[in-house]
Amino acid sequence: MPETTDTGPAEPLLEVTDLRKSFVTKRDVFGRAVAREDAVRGVSFTLPHGRTLGIVGETGAGKSTVGRLVLRLAEPDAGSVRLLGADVLSLSRRDLRRLRRRAQMIFQDPFASLDPRMLVGQTIGEPLLLHAGLKGAARTARVVELLGRVGLPAGTADRYPHEFSGGQLQRVAIARALASEPDLIVCDEPVAALDVSVQAQVLNLLLDLQAERGLSYLFISHDLSLVRSFAHEVAVMNHGEIVESGPGSELFGHPQHPYTKELVSAIPVTRPGRRRSAAVRRAAASIPAAPEPPVVRPVLSHVLEGDPS
Ligand SMILES: Nc1ncnc2c1ncn2[C@@H]1O[C@H](COP(=O)(O)OP(=O)(O)OP(=O)(O)O)[C@@H](O)[C@H]1O
Ligand SMILES: [Mg+2]
Repeated sequence: MPETTDTGPAEPLLEVTDLRKSFVTKRDVFGRAVAREDAVRGVSFTLPHGRTLGIVGETGAGKSTVGRLVLRLAEPDAGSVRLLGADVLSLSRRDLRRLRRRAQMIFQDPFASLDPRMLVGQTIGEPLLLHAGLKGAARTARVVELLGRVGLPAGTADRYPHEFSGGQLQRVAIARALASEPDLIVCDEPVAALDVSVQAQVLNLLLDLQAERGLSYLFISHDLSLVRSFAHEVAVMNHGEIVESGPGSELFGHPQHPYTKELVSAIPVTRPGRRRSAAVRRAAASIPAAPEPPVVRPVLSHVLEGDPS
């Protein structure tokens, strides 16, 4: 694959330009499309190495579609996606498979995204075999290592998905994503289905992994408070377009676009001017002692520096 080399520091990990996608919403009796809906209408953004871009917006805004288009899980109608120096939309199937190894996705519902008939060890071991050719004891050892990294005991490998809670299973999904040593993880509402206390644990795990491995996240959510605390940059989507983007503190502190203003005004406020800190305090209060050793650190600290709360 000629182009998929590591990009230089100057080139972003991911560069999306004027991405477009419409879906057929109505067909005639011959199966011909008679009505289409524009789900993504000219979306552009860049994501640097080791950073998080949050995409927020209401249901139907096109957030998940953007995530899928970036990984070419759906085919765009137009636009370009440059990932790790490769032009994703012109790659052959074979080259795309290789690139996919470095770009993973985790979903809102791990029960639906993991195969219920596979033991957790098989689920995590599959990409190890496919991408790294690991077999036998070496593969088992790596599965155990990955489970440990996401805070699960080795015995987890011999159990089925239905034996776990949502939070535990989302950790399994993260371990599976990590197995292929990705550079990018598209996280589509990864904690939306979890209790608040478990949400904070999973988010902290993602932050730790980012710090350790220089991972980049495309973090899709409709929870503005959460995205504001988690993402370095935020893009607000409405009706298939990014209407405003920038660092969360600026975007939510001084929203310019009427739609962003509307979204921000809908964030629950405990005291005027303390929106962000309220959300973060809620998460912090629910954090049990150090989900991952060795160092207990403040929740979501990487974006809180300078926050007065
Ligand atoms: N496979 C598909 N076939 C037809 N229409 C689709 C398909 N996928 C998405 N859409 C439509 O595209 C629009 C954007 O959907 P998308 O799932 O990207 O929104 P979203 O912002 O992720 O919403 P949510 O917050 O509810 O997950 C919606 O109107 C949806 O109905
Ligand atoms: Mg979605």
